Amino acid sequence: MSKRFKVGIIGCGIGRSHIVEGYLPHADKYEVAALCDLDETRLNAVADEFFVSRRTRSSDELMSDPDIDIIDICTPPAVHTKLVLQALAAGKHVVCEKPLTGSLAEVDQVRLAEKNSKGLLMPIFQYRYGEGVAQAKRIIDSGLAGKPYAATAETFWRRTADYYDNPWRGRWATELGGVLMTHAIHLHDMLTYLLGPIERVFARAETRVNAIEVEDCVSASLLMQNGALASLTATLGAAEEISRLHIAFEHVTFESNHEAYSPGDGPWRIVPVSDEVRQAIDALLADSPPVGRRFNGQMEAFYGALVSGAAPPVTSEDARRSLELVTAIYHSNDTHSDVVLPIAEDHPKYHSWRP
Ligand SMILES: NC(=O)c1ccc[n+]([C@@H]2O[C@H](COP(=O)([O-])OP(=O)(O)OC[C@H]3O[C@@H](n4cnc5c(N)ncnc54)[C@H](O)[C@@H]3O)[C@@H](O)[C@H]2O)c1
Repeated sequence: MSKRFKVGIIGCGIGRSHIVEGYLPHADKYEVAALCDLDETRLNAVADEFFVSRRTRSSDELMSDPDIDIIDICTPPAVHTKLVLQALAAGKHVVCEKPLTGSLAEVDQVRLAEKNSKGLLMPIFQYRYGEGVAQAKRIIDSGLAGKPYAATAETFWRRTADYYDNPWRGRWATELGGVLMTHAIHLHDMLTYLLGPIERVFARAETRVNAIEVEDCVSASLLMQNGALASLTATLGAAEEISRLHIAFEHVTFESNHEAYSPGDGPWRIVPVSDEVRQAIDALLADSPPVGRRFNGQMEAFYGALVSGAAPPVTSEDARRSLELVTAIYHSNDTHSDVVLPIAEDHPKYHSWRP
């Protein structure tokens, strides 16, 4: 019989969605064995809902429990690094919500700990999982799309004062950033997943929508390593919420669906330049395996890595890449300059991007 991994989840907000979308549909692969939250009412409500008998307010208890294989960290951002390091040191496999850490120095510290741990670490980037993004990835990787030209990534979401009625949100010390860190990070990950690494960044960031410390509007201009140009726009003040990725290659233009929280779902608009390209795409996609959406797809892919010992489907390198973009955007905004990637240890914002 194949191994069923026992999961302990810390944080029962988005942690509940990990259960519903990620673990329950794969009940042959995972058992949610324990839940942890500082808020006892919330802990009991979620544990009752999913019949989880082991519940605790102490994350230390889960870390030292030999019965738990995977620690899934769903706490507010500022505690991620500490818990990830603790879980890796305990030899656990680790799933961690975004952002993985609060600085590039911390990502590098985590990556070192990962090398020395028997556990696998998978940061969450569930927007990569869906039929639309999977088809685009397959076409691009096959070479059929040709030379990449230009892209836009729009995160037009809406957050009002009631959303910030949660003590960790809207503050540098606890949210670690604004729309860039908490919201647009998903579409930006999807962009680099499809277009590869970034070479240069010029950006502006402002707080225009809510009375918060962190930014809620961003505009950035990117030069990708493959020569393509990309524009990122994000706001938390949109009347209509959409996420949209639009990429023009030599032979194919891709446009994601506009669902704010699942732009990876199919169908995407995939527009070939000719009938010949259309036929080649149809042939390529004819035998595409089905792919789960969001946490469902990501947890399924993680299981493959856990049983085979392969690298996780989303890696700490991916997390570093996303936080390098965040660091570059803040630095460009502060200095009104073009920032060249990669960002190394001698960069002024390597140890913190916060003001
Ligand atoms: N991937 C996504 O689509 C997505 C969506 C929402 C949130 N998130 C991320 O998930 C994380 C949590 O966000 P949320 O919206 O669920 O927040 P939340 O405030 O709703 O829930 C966080 C929970 O963690 C608990 N908690 C805090 N510190 C703890 C600790 N040390 N030990 C145990 N429990 C602790 C809190 O009591 C709270 O119940 C954030 O990093 C956020 O960016 C990701």
